[in-house]
Amino acid sequence: MKRLEFLYRIGSVFGITTLSSSLLGSCKSNDPEDEIVTLSEDEVIYNDLKNKTANNGKYLDGRILYLDITHDNFSSLNTVGEFVNDFDNYVLILRKSEDLFQSFSNCCPHQGTFNQWSYSNGRFRCSNHGNTYGTSNSNIVQCGSRSTSGNLKQYQTSRNQDILIVDFDS
Ligand code: FES
Repeated sequence: MKRLEFLYRIGSVFGITTLSSSLLGSCKSNDPEDEIVTLSEDEVIYNDLKNKTANNGKYLDGRILYLDITHDNFSSLNTVGEFVNDFDNYVLILRKSEDLFQSFSNCCPHQGTFNQWSYSNGRFRCSNHGNTYGTSNSNIVQCGSRSTSGNLKQYQTSRNQDILIVDFDS
């Protein structure tokens, strides 16, 4: 497996982390709190995502949404059968089982309401007019199409440890 090695010099002053290995030679310290850690490429990517989602638990990069399920804003996703409605990104994120997360458009296929969803028995219900929609990846009904049944538009959702990755182009 291709592996990039990054030398991190973890400084004790201000908690600043410096990526430049060239600094190692000029910043040698006898401070026992200093240490050199070697990170894999995957670890660097994961740490970067944790930093970018640290503020409010999510980070949108173009058409990709990253969401930290350990952040307080998304604590409901710790429970199977719970979901969050991210109004900023028009997406419902559901913890369907212990290991399965799914993401759907939050636009109701009936008349486009986005903020009146509940979930039970494998279906989302929009309380505006009471229609329910499934979560299967077939018979998709589009936002505001006046459909009163069918399944919500679904986005490909993957996971990097505790970071969910939602692809809005899928
Ligand atoms: S807008 Fe959702 S059921 Fe009518």
